[in-house]
Amino acid sequence: MSAAARRPNDLNPPPPSDAPDVAAYFEALAYFEEASVDAFDALRSELEVHGAPRPLVAAAARASDDERMHARIARTLAMRFGGRPSLPPAAPRGARTLEEIALENATLGCIRGSYGAAVVRVQAVRASDPVVRAAMKRLAPEEARHAELAWAVHGWICARTGPLVRDALITAQRDELVVLGEELMFEHDAVLIDVIGLPTANQARALVARLVQERRIAA
Ligand SMILES: [Fe+2]
Repeated sequence: MSAAARRPNDLNPPPPSDAPDVAAYFEALAYFEEASVDAFDALRSELEVHGAPRPLVAAAARASDDERMHARIARTLAMRFGGRPSLPPAAPRGARTLEEIALENATLGCIRGSYGAAVVRVQAVRASDPVVRAAMKRLAPEEARHAELAWAVHGWICARTGPLVRDALITAQRDELVVLGEELMFEHDAVLIDVIGLPTANQARALVARLVQERRIAA
């Protein structure tokens, strides 16, 4: 399952679904997109607290608005396929240190966010269902922008922290890539590859390889 959304790392997975595959996919997507609204909102206020440049704060605010719309789109798609989307629990969160923010951003924002955005780009072209294709076309540039925001936040934090933190973030990104690679050993059901255009396992691994190359992440 690859839902392009910025989920907080302490978020529980969505409740198990007895809906058919496609509906269950969009139930999960709706759940994670909704969680992303709060995640970007929290990021916006944390960036403000830590004195981030205004464009980063503004981009986080815009991303939260984007995610509100993504959640609505995903809920509509879930219901269209017979699913019953649920909302994630409210996750009030205390202020975090810059290092805590950096770690979540480096892994979930940069790695998972970039990969998720790449998957949505594929879906926007390959989904056989025209409504899904149109929805993914709408989401794709915004998810790409969110991934860029994560890398911009990563760059800002790396520039103001020492080599120890930077090395820890690079190690965490490599570890996240290993976990992602293990998840991509398994093929999605054919209906997900067809109807919603998810990449095959081989295609997914190629997307990761491209991400590693583009971002120059050393093995
Ligand atoms: Fe999203």
